[in-house]
Amino acid sequence: MSESVPETVDMDKIVSLCRRRGFIFPSSEIYGGLSSCWDYGPLGVELKRNVKDAWWQAMVRERDDMVGIDASILMHPQTWVASGHVDGFADPLVDCKNCRMRWRSDDLAENKCPACGGELTEPRMFNLMFKTFMGPVEEQASVVYLRPETAQGIFVNFQNVLNTTRKRLPFGIAQIGKSFRNEITVGNFIFRSREFEQMEVEYFVKPGTDKEWFDYWVQERFNWYIKMGIKKEHLKLRQHDKTELAHYALDCYDVNYLFPMGWAELEGIANRGDFDLGQHAKYSGKSLDYFDEEAKEHINPYVIEPSAGVDRSVLAFLVDAYDEDVAEGEKRVVMRFHPGIAPIKVAVLPLSRKEHLAAFAKEIYADLRRHWMVQYDDAQSIGRRYRRQDEIGTPLCVTVDFQSLEDKQVTVRERDSMKQIRIPISELQKTLAAKLAGEDILVLPPGGQVWK
Ligand code: GAP
Repeated sequence: MSESVPETVDMDKIVSLCRRRGFIFPSSEIYGGLSSCWDYGPLGVELKRNVKDAWWQAMVRERDDMVGIDASILMHPQTWVASGHVDGFADPLVDCKNCRMRWRSDDLAENKCPACGGELTEPRMFNLMFKTFMGPVEEQASVVYLRPETAQGIFVNFQNVLNTTRKRLPFGIAQIGKSFRNEITVGNFIFRSREFEQMEVEYFVKPGTDKEWFDYWVQERFNWYIKMGIKKEHLKLRQHDKTELAHYALDCYDVNYLFPMGWAELEGIANRGDFDLGQHAKYSGKSLDYFDEEAKEHINPYVIEPSAGVDRSVLAFLVDAYDEDVAEGEKRVVMRFHPGIAPIKVAVLPLSRKEHLAAFAKEIYADLRRHWMVQYDDAQSIGRRYRRQDEIGTPLCVTVDFQSLEDKQVTVRERDSMKQIRIPISELQKTLAAKLAGEDILVLPPGGQVWK
């Protein structure tokens, strides 16, 4: 029996909305763009920041067993020898003898060029690390790499963190930052690019407890996406079989998401055993073990690694939020973002640009923007403005009308249900905070009423 596949949106619609509304642009577009590189626009940068903040909040700030770091992108080149990347971080590359297109041979179903059907060369291994030179002389001795993962910045700082925080096992170190991979094939918008951001944790545990912690992190990370609004039926866990495990991994699960091109990896959770600390201890000659006070012995911690892509998460949040429905007889595109992820939380919309009303509305705007990312929009009809806010996923709109000047009340309209309430301005900030935290729009503050 074939598996039923939940519906998802076309990638073209997402790309076009991102371009149209200023979420994401092709990099260096005025020069024709640069393959697989993307620039986050005014809304995209807020969205991306919210994704990273939500992750940091859940992974670092709300936990006693986690601390953060921000390591440099350029690291001592020996790091990548020890980690296995210099020798092993390579994909099999084939060229088409006819049209010269390049492919990853392990991506191809048949041994011929997918573009023209031409004959392919024998595969040769292609290292994915970007190389550059440190200092003015371009010679082998000055080669450094742009990091292909943030993880190694954590491992090389293990002792620094241990010595300065007095953390005991189990504990984790979290990091968010850019990584670079000279991928052979890129595409599907921001899904696979050569410059991207990762959100990684290395969680250090006592050997023997690693399986238990591995299961814990697989569940924890799966549930985080659901908590942040991703539909459960669009998420799946997939265990790697032994043949596909990375050189360092004892076990690995992917959190897969139903992207427009099909199910694909959003995040990987790996049991890295004691590989990394062991390798860095060997290559640096420094001790990276841990003294267990209870057992009075030195141990080599095992590591569980939840490793997520920021850009892939942004894409998943965009795809999952996208919806089309009909509002007042008109088709509307609505981005149903979780309020924590939405780039703009509240829009303030004065019904007219008349000076005394605008000044009053701007006071409300000035007050609210101390708490959230708020947009002020006074252009075109109120219906058009609601549609615009729906399309960028703003959860709440505050409409200020002439009556507001008299009764000191405003209308609050909720994006998903389009229901409205009229409430005193004195209750506005508290009410918006409650609605953004998930309270039903029809729960009224003192003096409020349902608005038709
Ligand atoms: N430290 C382990 C590690 O880097 P990975 O599975 O290679 O593992 C982790 O990468 C996550 O980073 C992936 O699940 C994905 O979300 C993101 N990622 C990896 N390569 C990427 C690329 N070329 N473009 C965008 N995101 C990428």
